[in-house]
Amino acid sequence: MKIEKGIILAGGSGSRLYPLTLASNKQLLPIYDKPVIYYPLTTLMLARIRDILIISSPRDLPSIKALLGNGDNIGVHFEYAIQESPNGLPEAFILGEKFISNQSVAMILGDNFFHGQGLSATVYNTAQDFSGAHIFTYTVEDPQRYGIVTLDADQKVLSLEEKPKNPQSNIAVTGLYYFDGTVSARSKNLSPSLRGELEIVDLIKSYMDEGQLTATQLGRGYVWLDAGTPKSLLDASQYVEVIQSRQGHIIACPEEVAWRMGFIDSEYFEKFIRSLPNSKYKEYLARLIQ
Ligand code: DAU
Repeated sequence: MKIEKGIILAGGSGSRLYPLTLASNKQLLPIYDKPVIYYPLTTLMLARIRDILIISSPRDLPSIKALLGNGDNIGVHFEYAIQESPNGLPEAFILGEKFISNQSVAMILGDNFFHGQGLSATVYNTAQDFSGAHIFTYTVEDPQRYGIVTLDADQKVLSLEEKPKNPQSNIAVTGLYYFDGTVSARSKNLSPSLRGELEIVDLIKSYMDEGQLTATQLGRGYVWLDAGTPKSLLDASQYVEVIQSRQGHIIACPEEVAWRMGFIDSEYFEKFIRSLPNSKYKEYLARLIQ
């Protein structure tokens, strides 16, 4: 199965970032020099996913729309949907049922940051050929904060638990998921957990129980961060600043990815660059095309 559709889930209460999120959505805060949402967006684009549904809260969806528009300038198609309240990650597949229309779909959480040599090939190749559900895992120091899996020697997922008090491993489920076309129906069958949310681990488990779950462990050459707390937001900003200053490449620049992937041609790209306000960002894009 091949994935052509993607969802960015960019709502939530952002409570752990209070008061930063009192008047603004977490996904619109900066990771160094660009909004948080640019990072998951470019990850989907690297997987050549160009048909994208963005879901956020009634308060924040208008600002996200103002930022991203309809996607024409980066050769992608954006649709938008409102999530009335943060009822859990699988609700995205219920709200997005029409958009998904029984096809395979990727979902990335709006606060997730992935970077590393080979990321593009990894996310793209997996999206070209998978069945059931696929997750990407990563070793972390603080497993109590995440969905945690145990794996056997062949990378088969043996167990899955959300934010365990006594974690059985330190292998976290990252916020990038691939699901087949049954995902909306499965999500509708879930019941809210004790904390009142539909749980992504319950959705993944429904595939695991049928032997329909595969996983890719992102090794130590990759960076995975989430921007969910003030510290992780700062960590991500510092990481981006260090790499960008050293290399001169900008991380997660949607216009650059669009041009390199051939979503927009050079003529269009040049015209777009001319329309930008004078800034370092504009200078960077102009340098690329020279
Ligand atoms: O980042 C990876 C982790 O993401 C996984 O390891 C966990 O299994 C998964 O449950 C999730 O945990 P978080 O505690 O980080 O989830 P959080 O509630 O912070 O939501 C993640 C993003 O999704 C955040 O940007 C807000 C958004 N969100 C969340 C919920 C529950 C929504 O837009 N709507 C929602 O209903």
